[in-house]
Amino acid sequence: MTTTVTLNDGTTIPSIGFGTYPHDNDDSAANTEHALEIGYRLIDTALSYENEEEVGEGIRRSPVAREELVVTTKVPGRFHGYDGARESFETSAKSLGLETVDLLLIHWPLPRLDKYVDTWRALIDLQQEGRVRSIGVSNFTPDHIRRLQDETGVTPAVNQVELHPYFQQREQRAFHAEHGIVTEAWSPLGRGGDLLQEPRILEVADALGVSAGQVVLRWHLQQGIVPIPKSKTPSRQRENFDVFGFELSEAQIASIDELERDRIWGQDPNTYEEF
Ligand SMILES: NC(=O)c1ccc[n+]([C@@H]2O[C@H](COP(=O)([O-])OP(=O)(O)OC[C@H]3O[C@@H](n4cnc5c(N)ncnc54)[C@H](OP(=O)(O)O)[C@@H]3O)[C@@H](O)[C@H]2O)c1
Repeated sequence: MTTTVTLNDGTTIPSIGFGTYPHDNDDSAANTEHALEIGYRLIDTALSYENEEEVGEGIRRSPVAREELVVTTKVPGRFHGYDGARESFETSAKSLGLETVDLLLIHWPLPRLDKYVDTWRALIDLQQEGRVRSIGVSNFTPDHIRRLQDETGVTPAVNQVELHPYFQQREQRAFHAEHGIVTEAWSPLGRGGDLLQEPRILEVADALGVSAGQVVLRWHLQQGIVPIPKSKTPSRQRENFDVFGFELSEAQIASIDELERDRIWGQDPNTYEEF
């Protein structure tokens, strides 16, 4: 049983979600269906993941009611601009087999193109037209978000950013808190690499009788961050969702905080481009 967090538009999303990229077993339909069976209700995909049809198929196969789900997708760089963003949404909705999307994000700001404000205007209109329930961004810095606010008067409900104990985004999170923006964490497990072998994390895991992955996800949850762990492995999908029956102490969180280093992937939103 998960908890929820409230967005600045008055709706709620689950406090943990399910990432769908990359499912290198090529079976996003089965992965999504299984995630829903476990209890995940927040599903994260993107047009550029090229798996929206399979994710939609998994949703259709599942007995879980559509209205219980928060289906997230994203507008990629090649669709930046007002008309492009609308086309991107229609393409995603068709691929997913859904009339409406619950959370639509701009995937990256691509400031060199200077089209993210117009892209945002399309998301605002789609929300007003009832095609999208909530709108947000991904990989936007405080400067990018301020510009959206200044030029449109609308603050994103969510910003999905790289966030894990190696890259904690403290200033970004403080900005989000000040502006009522929910922080979603991508690569919350550090993509399953060195992070999950860190002695500090293993020590906490050992003390609590849980796995390293569960400790890291709990570190997110207790700080109000919404992690969206990805796994193609059924047992890990279940393990990652089973994080509501234990708590980290303040000292354990502080110990994990010491792991701060840098981004894992070097994708600086001011310069990184993905189309
Ligand atoms: N907005 C963006 O720009 C952006 C960028 C990247 C990702 N995302 C989203 O965020 C989601 C999650 O990020 P991510 O996939 O980069 O990284 P992640 O969720 O931190 O890590 C996924 C990796 O960790 C492994 N793993 C999962 N659970 C584990 C556990 N309990 N113990 C040990 N290893 C475990 C997975 O392996 P197996 O699958 O083999 O089990 C996979 O290799 C993506 O799927 C995507 O939806 C968004």
